[in-house]
Amino acid sequence: MATAIIYGSSTGNTEKVAEMIKDELGDLIDDIKEISEVSADDMNSYDKLILGIPTWNDGELQEDWETFFEDEMDDVNFSGKTVAIFGLGDQEGYPEFFLDAMRAVYDKVTGDGGKVVGSWPTDGYEFDTSKAVVDGNFVGLAIDEDNQDDMTEERVEDWCDDIKESFE
Ligand SMILES: Cc1cc2nc3c(=O)[nH]c(=O)nc-3n(C[C@H](O)[C@H](O)[C@H](O)COP(=O)(O)O)c2cc1C
Repeated sequence: MATAIIYGSSTGNTEKVAEMIKDELGDLIDDIKEISEVSADDMNSYDKLILGIPTWNDGELQEDWETFFEDEMDDVNFSGKTVAIFGLGDQEGYPEFFLDAMRAVYDKVTGDGGKVVGSWPTDGYEFDTSKAVVDGNFVGLAIDEDNQDDMTEERVEDWCDDIKESFE
């Protein structure tokens, strides 16, 4: 069994962060793939996953993730898997829907009985509402390349330190 980073990205921001996480975790990552290239069988073949999802169109899933949810997700079973989630969004442009799409991934993984690691504090962000907040924390790493790109590197490093032991 192996570990993969799987992400969707329409304008390249989530792809960039996926590559940063790969660089940070090094040999702990076996594969890095775009969600548009992945089937349910592929997803099921990993026992540990780092899933990257940006939010688009007022709280909606990024389009390739939307297609995956429609066509493949019912055949994915996260039971027994360890999953960390990272999300991209724009807290100034979409303060009522900041990072909402992360929640759909979180709900599917936990609904199957999978383990989600890597929750992240909301300190340092300004927004009105976010479905990605559960019990006071984001369900995974929160990145805002539109307004806080100068903080991305440090956030990625800190989060990777947090999740590392779950992926060893
Ligand atoms: C038309 C449009 C709608 C967006 N809607 C949201 C949204 O509802 N919530 C949010 O947090 N970010 C939203 N964003 C911001 C994107 O999530 C952000 O730019 C992200 O970095 C894009 O990642 P990608 O380049 O990997 O697709 C939106 C951006 C655009 C252009």
